[in-house]
Amino acid sequence: MAFLDKHAILEKSPTLLLTASLLVVTIGGIVEIAPLFWLENTIEDVEGVRPYSPLELTGRDIYIREGCYVCHSQMIRPMRDEVERYGHYSLAAESKYDHPHQWGSKRTGPDVARVGGRYSDAWHVDHLMDPQSVVPESIMPKYAFLADARIDGEHIEALLKTHRFVGVPYTDDMIASASADFKVQADPDEDWDGLVERYPGAAVSNFDGQPELTEMDALIAYLQVLGTMVDFSTFTPDASR
Ligand code: HEC
Repeated sequence: MAFLDKHAILEKSPTLLLTASLLVVTIGGIVEIAPLFWLENTIEDVEGVRPYSPLELTGRDIYIREGCYVCHSQMIRPMRDEVERYGHYSLAAESKYDHPHQWGSKRTGPDVARVGGRYSDAWHVDHLMDPQSVVPESIMPKYAFLADARIDGEHIEALLKTHRFVGVPYTDDMIASASADFKVQADPDEDWDGLVERYPGAAVSNFDGQPELTEMDALIAYLQVLGTMVDFSTFTPDASR
């Protein structure tokens, strides 16, 4: 009791109380923050996560330009309702090559973090051209103009280099092949072995069904890779970290 009574001294002197609280908060802060300076990496490395292919990266830029993130989030929280609806909760590693990340903060439409492979390319074309044609009650706007917007990957090397500058591990080989990989991914008749070697699991397809390479191709290539890089049948979280 005698020891606890001494607390009264602190409580009666605002200066002393303030100094003591600051001391406690400082110790707590150091304990939480200091280890981060010695950890090499705060993101658990997860097998399968790779940089976006040139076409996917272009599609990602279109996703950002069109403001899809205003209605769609890309982060599945570890809560049961989310996991049952959307699949495995998002891992930090899954957005480590996203500059900037597309977690979003609003869900007017569903989360799209794992939409890759859920629908066919043709479904995406129909849906983007006219969402109400496949989901009658949808309030998503039409993006039909994307199918008329031709792209040629003119600045694709510079785009990859920019992402390398901010830390995405694009190799010299990837940058040298960027222009070819860009075109080959939407043309299954070409030789795409190199592309798939550089970007394992990349979907090769004539995404929009037209001979020309369009923004629609790029956007669908991006949507189809979302959430598919990690194989969750073999993934076990590293709890030791
Ligand atoms: C005004 C809000 C809004 C905007 C902007 C918007 N969407 Fe949507 N989106 C929705 C809604 C609502 C749905 C659910 C109904 C439907 O499937 O159309 C949806 C559904 C989707 C789906 C199907 C998801 C699923 O799991 O069923 C995809 C894929 C999608 N949107 C992609 C996009 C892309 C790509 C863009 C940008 C080019 C975009 N959306 C822009 C509102 C929006």
